[in-house]
Amino acid sequence: MRKRIVAGNWKMNLTKGEGESLYNSLKGTTSSQTEVKVFVPAIFLDHLLSRSHDVLVGAQNFHPKDSGAYTGEVSISQLKDLGIREVLVGHSERREYFGESDEFLREKVDAALAHGMHVTFCCGEPLEVRESGDEEAFVTEQLHNSLFQVTEAQLNQVTIAYEPIWAIGTGKTASVEQADAMHGHIRNQVRKKYGEQAANALRILYGGSCKPDNAGDLFSCEDIDGGLIGGASLKTQDFKQIIEA
Ligand code: 13P
Repeated sequence: MRKRIVAGNWKMNLTKGEGESLYNSLKGTTSSQTEVKVFVPAIFLDHLLSRSHDVLVGAQNFHPKDSGAYTGEVSISQLKDLGIREVLVGHSERREYFGESDEFLREKVDAALAHGMHVTFCCGEPLEVRESGDEEAFVTEQLHNSLFQVTEAQLNQVTIAYEPIWAIGTGKTASVEQADAMHGHIRNQVRKKYGEQAANALRILYGGSCKPDNAGDLFSCEDIDGGLIGGASLKTQDFKQIIEA
C-alpha cells in the first residue's frame, strides 16, 4: 500500500503571520498513512523551517544553477543550504506565466534530484487538448520531455501530480472517471519505462479544484494517491478535511 500524500500549494498568498498560523494549525496531521506537506512562498521558507513540525515545508520554485547572475532567483543549492528537501517542478502556472519550457524543467528536475531533493513533478493538459481528446498523448510527452531522463533509483525521490489546467482554480474538477483514467495512464507510462516495481511504488497526486466534498471520491480511486491542493489549502478546516479524506 502506497503512503498517501496531501500537499498544499499556497501559491502567492498569505502574509508571514497568516502563513505561520496556518502552518501551526496543521501540526499533527501527518499519520502513518498520510504525509502532509506545504509548498510556500520563498520568503516564508526559513521562518517556517524554524517552526517545523511533522508537516514538511517545500519550495514552489528555484533556479537549477547553483549560483550566478540570475537576478531575483533563488538557487537549488541555496534551498538545500536552508534545509529544504521538497520542491515543486512543472506547475502549469510556471510553464504558462514564466515561460518555463520542457527543457528548462528537465534541468530543474535533474538539479533538484542531484541535490537530494524530493521532486513533485506537475503535468496536465489545457482545455483545448482535453476537448480534442489528445490529453494522454500530451501528458506522455510532458513526462518524456522533462522527467523520464531520471534513473529508476532517482524515481524514488519523485512524486507526480496530475493537474488538468482547466480544473485549476476554476471550481471545475475533473470527474473521478477522468482523473482515474489519466492516473492509470501515467502509471502505465512509468511501468513501460521503469518496470512494475517502480510503477507500483510511485505516488500520483491529483490537483485541480480538489475540495473537502470531492476529495474522498477522488482519493478512493486505485491510482490516485492523494492531492496537490491550491485554494482549499489556504483554509485550515478545508485542508484538514481533505487530509482526513
Ligand atoms: P486549486 O486547488 O486552487 O484548483 O489549485 C490547484 C493547484 O494548482 C495546486 O498546485
